[in-house]
Amino acid sequence: MSAPRIVAIDGPAGSGKSTVARLTAEALGLEVLDTGAMYRVVTLAALEQGVPLDDAAALGALAARSSIGLGPAGAVVLDGRDVRAEIRGPEVTGAVSAVSAHPEVRAVLVEAQRAWMVDHGGGVVEGRDITTVVFPDAPLKVFLTASEEERARRRAGDEAAVGRSADQAAIAADLARRDRLDSGRAAAPLAVADDAHVVDTTGMTIEQVVAAVADLARAAFG
Ligand code: DC
Repeated sequence: MSAPRIVAIDGPAGSGKSTVARLTAEALGLEVLDTGAMYRVVTLAALEQGVPLDDAAALGALAARSSIGLGPAGAVVLDGRDVRAEIRGPEVTGAVSAVSAHPEVRAVLVEAQRAWMVDHGGGVVEGRDITTVVFPDAPLKVFLTASEEERARRRAGDEAAVGRSADQAAIAADLARRDRLDSGRAAAPLAVADDAHVVDTTGMTIEQVVAAVADLARAAFG
């Protein structure tokens, strides 16, 4: 039996992971899983239900009892409600690194991510610990990155596209803050796996990045 067709992608905020993962999945005929959206949903639930962001046990229990659905067309569902807009808002973005730092939360979501892969039999998965912890045996592991300036410029474009304020200096400061927290935490920090292909997307178009990752995947899948 051939190994499952898994493309694992990690990288810092603003590296283009979500778009690249979605388009690469389309190119390969696979489904995509945005694990950052899962951490964002738990963070939204915590903010709405008043669960303290430093209460690891309560946050783990909250993750376990929340019903999180990720639809193929970008739907993100929390307990039956579409929250795809709310999870990208500044409140959730400001709190998600604190919530995702708790091993109790990660254990619940990592189990759900592995169950998703069993159900789908393959897929493109992106996040911070996908190549190192969730699917360390994936046939293709990619670390996507870009210069800080380019990442801030892209995020500013995303924000402007949905009508939110897009001050590039403030966005750059927030990206740097999240990178520091996501890379410096004890539990499953953002790191480059030994055998990951590092793709620096600075100056590349999305189409070029997708073509490069899809080629790597075809070569890895054999
Ligand atoms: O990719 P994103 O910006 O939507 O991710 C939101 C946050 O979730 C990010 O700051 C760190 C956390 N995260 C994580 O800890 N592990 C993952 N696999 C994905 C995201």
